[in-house]
Amino acid sequence: MHENQLFDILHSSRIHNEALNISGVLLYADSTFIQLLEGRDAIIDALYKRIQADERHNNIITLLNENIVEKSFEQWLMGFAVTDATKTQKLIGYLQSINELDLDNKATDAILAIKAFIQSSGLDIQN
Ligand SMILES: Cc1cc2nc3c(=O)[nH]c(=O)nc-3n(C[C@H](O)[C@H](O)[C@H](O)COP(=O)(O)O)c2cc1C
Repeated sequence: MHENQLFDILHSSRIHNEALNISGVLLYADSTFIQLLEGRDAIIDALYKRIQADERHNNIITLLNENIVEKSFEQWLMGFAVTDATKTQKLIGYLQSINELDLDNKATDAILAIKAFIQSSGLDIQN
């Protein structure tokens, strides 16, 4: 995906997610995104429908949809990391280090999926 497209996605995510009280993480590596979204049920459902209809990606799989007691990424409107970052590093929400996500003490199934993606994509090394 072209950096400008990533930029646009992050830009609209930041605006909408703030307005809708949604937090989450978006990681990109080897032409694949993994995204975790946190927020009110109906709001997440509506956003997910919008994301699914987005033609900038395809082969979308829902890994998990679960109720949570508290958010894990409250401080991230959309924490973001890519393996080959250049321009994207200037984007708000860009993670200088994957450690910023503070995943060590978090172990929900959704976060385990995020961790597996990070390890298999090398995001833990390159960031
Ligand atoms: C992988 C991926 C993740 C996205 N995540 C979000 C998101 O978290 N929040 C959001 O508002 N839009 C997200 N989008 C963009 C939406 O699909 C949609 O284009 C956007 O919300 C429309 O906003 P706009 O009308 O302001 O351009 C994502 C798109 C892609 C391809």
